[in-house]
Amino acid sequence: MNIKFCIIFSLFLRNVIARGGDRINPLSSASDLGFPNHGYVVLARHLFEDNQARHPRTDITRGYMTNSELEKAVKEFGRRCSHISRVYSIGKSVQGFPLLVIEISDKPGKEEPEPAFKFVGNVHGDEPVGRELLILLANWICDNYMRDPLVNLIVDKVHLHILPSMNPDGFSLKRRGNANDIDLNRDFPDQFFPWNNDEDARQPETKAIMSWLREIHFTASASLHGGALVANYPWDGSLDKRKHYYACPDDGTFRFLASIYSKSHYNMSLSKEFEGGITNGAAWYPVYGGMQDWNYIYGGCFELTLEITDNKWPNAMELPTIWEYNKMSMLNLIASLVKTGVHGRVFSSDRGRPLSGLITIKEINYTDIREHFGICEVLFFSVQDAISAEF
Ligand SMILES: *[C@@H]1O[C@H](CO)[C@@H](O)[C@H](O)[C@H]1NC(C)=O
Ligand SMILES: *[C@@H]1O[C@H](CO)[C@@H](O)[C@H](O)[C@H]1NC(C)=O
Ligand SMILES: [Zn+2]
Repeated sequence: MNIKFCIIFSLFLRNVIARGGDRINPLSSASDLGFPNHGYVVLARHLFEDNQARHPRTDITRGYMTNSELEKAVKEFGRRCSHISRVYSIGKSVQGFPLLVIEISDKPGKEEPEPAFKFVGNVHGDEPVGRELLILLANWICDNYMRDPLVNLIVDKVHLHILPSMNPDGFSLKRRGNANDIDLNRDFPDQFFPWNNDEDARQPETKAIMSWLREIHFTASASLHGGALVANYPWDGSLDKRKHYYACPDDGTFRFLASIYSKSHYNMSLSKEFEGGITNGAAWYPVYGGMQDWNYIYGGCFELTLEITDNKWPNAMELPTIWEYNKMSMLNLIASLVKTGVHGRVFSSDRGRPLSGLITIKEINYTDIREHFGICEVLFFSVQDAISAEF
């Protein structure tokens, strides 16, 4: 078995202090984010149960894939594009719907010394744009392999894993939570508060993600949400529960990655609320039990939370435009794993066995993830070394 590892870092450390969050302060006001056609107000983002009980007059699901149509689309993709993909399941939702993943790579299913990236859509059942975009992304990559250099780079040098819907039950119920009405983006173990530590008590969708991460050592990932337009990065939670910028050890790298998304997007970086279209999670509003911080702490995986539409559930006619707005962001974010960073393999000196390894940059105090992975070899680099390292 090949053991792979990869770490990315930023050479473009900038002092960006993300602002914003004002209009989603739960104690002051809930903003009207639109939906004029449907005659109801969507309350802000993650903080609120988004009551679909407000009875939209028209069927908001029109033009969106149902769960069985999504399953069909994934399986059709797997057949049509079998030369560079495979389809697998990481578990089932509460109501027994399979959580299907598309892996795209020139050697799908094979472990290689290449970074793995994952996209997760539809974490919140009532934020369905991501699941549509991820199917479009997979098909666009399939159609443009051998035609587009960026796509070639992704297929040849990255293992891309796409979970279009983490919460199919919430989608069919048109609500934020899963079938047990649990917000999955509050269901992960948290670094500051122990209430989610019992893994057995987690929701099946959460457990599926947790064991997925143990199996595949993702370098980076992003989940797709709706209700705002911003690329959000760790920490999502602050120790004192207050709203303020709370930087994680890899703050510079995260700002770099979030900026890749925002700057490649049609207009995310033009945000008036968030400087550069990016924000530290805790500076916006603190979240505990979220998937993003958990990925970083327990998996060493650099996860962003991408809010890609102000409307959580826009008219399906807008989907092709939203896809165009996000296409380059998605591709550039994945490709950044190859275009930056340190990649390589570590072999034992005696019999040439591959070893599990971890690269650390001397100047950065990492959260220690070794205990979670049984990693034995630690390679230390200084930032200067790392810039030029390739081994
Ligand atoms: C981005 O463009 C969309 C569609 O034109 C618009 O609704 C939104 O307000 C714009 N956002 C920013 C930050 O410019
Ligand atoms: C890292 O931790 C060490 C020891 O706790 C401390 O002396 C140092 O200032 C820290 N460095 C950074 C960049 O936080
Ligand atoms: Zn969300």
